[in-house]
This record gives sequence, structure tokens and C-alpha cells, in this order.
Amino acid sequence: MRTVTLKNVSKTFYDKSRKLTPVLAIKDFNLRIEDGEAVVLLGPSGCGKTTLLRLIAGLEQPDTGDIFYNDIPLDAVAVGDRGIGMVFQNYVLIPHWESRKTVGFFLRLRDREEEVPAHVKTVANITGVDIERLMGRFPRSLSGGEKQRVSIARAFARDLELLLFDEPFANLDAKFRGQARVELKRLIQEFNVTLVYVTHDQVEAMSIADRIVVLNAGRIVQSGTYTDLHDDPDSLFVAEFLGTPTMNSFWGRVQDGEWDGSYMGKAPLPSARPNGAEIIVGVRPEHIQLGDAQTGIPATIDRAIPYYAEKFLLLEVWLRKRRWRVQVALGEDHKPGDTVYCSLDWSRAFFFDAQSGARIR
Ligand SMILES: Nc1ncnc2c1ncn2[C@@H]1O[C@H](COP(=O)(O)OP(=O)(O)O)[C@@H](O)[C@H]1O
Ligand SMILES: [Mg+2]
Repeated sequence: MRTVTLKNVSKTFYDKSRKLTPVLAIKDFNLRIEDGEAVVLLGPSGCGKTTLLRLIAGLEQPDTGDIFYNDIPLDAVAVGDRGIGMVFQNYVLIPHWESRKTVGFFLRLRDREEEVPAHVKTVANITGVDIERLMGRFPRSLSGGEKQRVSIARAFARDLELLLFDEPFANLDAKFRGQARVELKRLIQEFNVTLVYVTHDQVEAMSIADRIVVLNAGRIVQSGTYTDLHDDPDSLFVAEFLGTPTMNSFWGRVQDGEWDGSYMGKAPLPSARPNGAEIIVGVRPEHIQLGDAQTGIPATIDRAIPYYAEKFLLLEVWLRKRRWRVQVALGEDHKPGDTVYCSLDWSRAFFFDAQSGARIR
């Protein structure tokens, strides 16, 4: 069993640079991570991801609430028995230890140093280079990416039940990053390790997670698969945070039972709202079609940006003073300054309460 449970966990820091102003980093947090599950904590910078990971690792104490490791309070599990491999965001390596000593620390204590080379090989598969040549070097002579590889090797070179990774591939070359994700996913399945992985990158989250937990300001805002979150967001925050290119959002008011976005036109509401209520409509760039002058809303192309790998052309257009993103097929001929006529697919639009950001269904 390798489950992690957080019950009503809160954590406040006191900011020394601002007269000890309290910063509520984690707020009344509840989460259960199942045995063998790959959970990705996804959210913008400062939302509490690193704090949460440090709480799970036992490096920080919660102010209130409890953390359980295999349903046993974390405090009651001896550090050596926790089976946690960690990679921190700022890869803390001991300066006067060469990599071999860092990587072999856990196994050497247990007289099992002969197992180290196999773990190093595992990590070479993840990070795409032969890290054996890094083993004789000290941290000061390693690049950021190399330190990160040594940290990953250290995380794996032990009896492993739970991996806690904080943006572990951020300093790897872009061409290794995709490979690293695939390899990590394969390994955790092979060894049946539970993974808690922190990132602000939705593509990374998508490729690694069984379940994505989206955080904002120290709270869980929604969790699910990437498709759940992308296609059925509970809030404006999730709808705008997930999806590339970013969703368009338009402000309007309820008028005679319909959403009225002035020159944007009118749209039927998913459920009744009082007259005058402010509502934001979200439309993804792929749900806007270019049509003819009779039915479409005229807009002027500002930029046309090709996305070759994803095979689409992103048009950034001006519609009066609003900027929209429209996704069309790569190869369509569009130039800055051209007029296009936009038709919105209202059946694919999301409606949000402008004050709370909550989805209106
Ligand atoms: N040791 C600390 N002292 C004071 N404030 C902190 C400390 N660690 C984190 N914070 C604050 O807590 C919040 C969450 O930080 P963090 O968990 O690092 O977010 P993330 O990893 O998502 O970027 C931020 O507002 C950050 O400034
Ligand atoms: Mg962080």
C-alpha cells in the first residue's frame, strides 16, 4: 500500500519581508492519492504546489489537519520507512559530495551499494544521456540540467513507494523533456510506484497524470482527467488555465432571459438568470468558424501564427476593441489586415457568473 491522504490541511507562512504578514499557502486541503496513482498538482506560480509537496514529504508541518501515509499518521512512520524519493524544484545537492556519493547514499547506508548502477541506468533512460559520466563530479561543476538528472537518480536509488517530483524536468533540454515524461510514466507503471508530480505546465500534466488536481490560491479548484477539465470546467479559472490557445471570454448581461453581448449578439442561457446579471461567456478558439458577411461578426486580423506541430493556424483578430483567438486549418491563406467574419458555436460555449467565476449549467 502506498496511499497518501490529506485531511483539512492548512499551512500559513509569515512573510519576513512584509512585517510578518500571514500568507495562507494551503487552505483546508482534502485529497486522497491512491496506490499506484499518478497525480499531477497543476496551477500557476505561487498557488501552493511546492508547499503541498513539502507537507506530504514531512518537510513542513501543517498548522491544522492531518496527513496519512498508508492510513498511518505521517509522524508515526519513521523517516527511513517512508519510501519517499524526492526531486525538488531547486535540486539541493550537498556541495562537497560527488554525484556518486549523493546517488548512493540510501543504499550505501544499507550495505547495498552494488544496486546503485542499475538505478543510474534507469535514470539514464529517463533523461536521455548517459549520466554515468556525471558520477565523479561535484555539484559546482554540473549544469542545471545535470544537477536535475543527479537528483532524479538519487530519488530512484532507494526502496521506493512514493515519488514526489517538483517540476523535475524544468532544466532538461526541450528535446529530452517529452521523452523524460514518457519514460517516467512507463517506470512508475512498471514498478507500481505512486507519483505526486508538481508542474505549472498543462502539457506535462496531460502526459503524466492519471488525475490532474488544479490548484488556485492554496485550494483545489477541480480535479479529473485532462479531458474532464478541458471539456467540462467548473470555473472560469480552470477554463482559462487549460487549453492551448487560451479560451476567449466575453462579458455580457442577461436581457429578457438571454445573454446579451451587445455587438457580439445574443445567446441562449443554459439556465434562467435574473435580468441584468453579469455573465462571462467562454468560447475556445477551435469553436469559432469563419463564415460569410451575412451571418458572421466582422473582425480584422492582427496576427496569423502557424503552429506547425499541432497543425493549425492561430488568428489573433480585433473585433472592435476586443482581441479574439480563432483557430483555423494550417494552410488557409490569411494575412494581417484582412477582414474575416466570425461565427460562434454557442452550443460549445461555457457560461460563468462574472462575480464568482462559477460555471452556470
Ligand atoms: N518559507 C516561506 N515563507 C514565506 N512564504 C512562503 C514560504 N514558502 C512559500 N511561501 C508562500 O506561500 C505561497 C505558496 O508558495 P509555493 O508553495 O512555493 O507555490 P508554488 O510552488 O505553487 O509556486 C506563496 O505565496 C509563497 O510566497
Ligand atoms: Mg513551486
